[in-house]
Amino acid sequence: MRKIIELKNVSKAFDGQTVLDNVSLDIYDNEFLTLLGPSGCGKTTTLRIIAGFESPDSGSLSFLGEDILSLPPHRRNVNTVFQRYALFPHLNVFENIAFPLREKKVPQDEIRGKVDEMLRLVALTGFEKRSVTSLSGGQQQRVAIARALISRPKVLLLDEPLAALDLKLRKDMQQELKNIQKATGITFVFVTHDQEEALSMSDTVVVMSEGRIQQIGTPIDIYNEPRNAFVADFIGESNILSGIMLQDRLVRFSGRDFPCVDEGFARNEPVDVVIRPEDVVIVPKGQLRGTVTSVTFLGVHYEIIVDIGGFKWMIQTTGFADVGDEIGIYVDPENIHIMKKSEYSGLFGDYSSFSNEFDELSDAESEAEP
Ligand SMILES: Nc1ncnc2c1ncn2[C@@H]1O[C@H](COP(=O)(O)OP(=O)(O)O)[C@@H](O)[C@H]1O
Ligand SMILES: [Mg+2]
Repeated sequence: MRKIIELKNVSKAFDGQTVLDNVSLDIYDNEFLTLLGPSGCGKTTTLRIIAGFESPDSGSLSFLGEDILSLPPHRRNVNTVFQRYALFPHLNVFENIAFPLREKKVPQDEIRGKVDEMLRLVALTGFEKRSVTSLSGGQQQRVAIARALISRPKVLLLDEPLAALDLKLRKDMQQELKNIQKATGITFVFVTHDQEEALSMSDTVVVMSEGRIQQIGTPIDIYNEPRNAFVADFIGESNILSGIMLQDRLVRFSGRDFPCVDEGFARNEPVDVVIRPEDVVIVPKGQLRGTVTSVTFLGVHYEIIVDIGGFKWMIQTTGFADVGDEIGIYVDPENIHIMKKSEYSGLFGDYSSFSNEFDELSDAESEAEP
């Protein structure tokens, strides 16, 4: 695969506040790459630096091997789709999409052909005469994408383009965007704070927190092999326990020794242990025992919170347990994942403050609790 964009040691501060801290990232030809992280972690700033709307305080940015930091946005071979689509309300669908070509004084029949092609690509054939203000949010976003793609940039930057759409439409658009990316072969750099969206759409996911890249990998890598407690917590649900790696393939946590499959840690090295809720099996006896404190039916499975020695585990199971039941749990060695200690150790992975409210809401509430 050919490397298109390379950010190297890029840092940026606003008003003395570091927003990007030594970010290095390679972006490849034909790749669907997603920057994923909570609000404020520096995703938009990264995109704006690539697009040329912002310049880094230090570090380099190259495009096909050439330094492009001194190039203005319109001289870079990239285009941006924003969350607010910024269509021209007085122009119809055709003219909105044709706009970049009109600016470049492209001849009329060439414009016609290219707009038709874009309309087909975003499934809006027949809509060319419609006023953009009469379109649904999803249709407007497709017009914005067609307009951004019509001049065939090498790279399309998309900053939370689906955030304003309702859930059902967002799911449809995710699939459609993915199809458009495959059909055109244009590299997409997509920004979202939604981990499910990132996992379902991307070839490569870049997890960011506080201006730093935490992990780069395929969705499966990121999910199965999170590099630290931040990534494990942010991507899906995780029980994260503090443990000690006694020796290769043997870890101690919750007062017990567990066989696992990880190797290469120092003897007795303190580590973080991640166990996904769907990997915990309820059994009569079990490696550990605890008391069920909450049960929620979620359609495909139950989400059960179990208090094991004061640490609250989340378990997802199709079996049923009742609040107050004492149960045993078993975890397969392959499903015990060991991580190095990090600055995020101890911050995540205990479901004591868990509620079925929105995650962010319960986070905010638990911080306020004594
Ligand atoms: N032009 C700016 N001036 C001052 N602060 C900014 C500016 N742009 C972004 N920031 C700050 O930088 C941080 C990262 O912002 P941003 O890159 O937009 O994050 P994200 O897109 O991940 O939500 C935030 O704290 C934001 O308030
Ligand atoms: Mg943003």
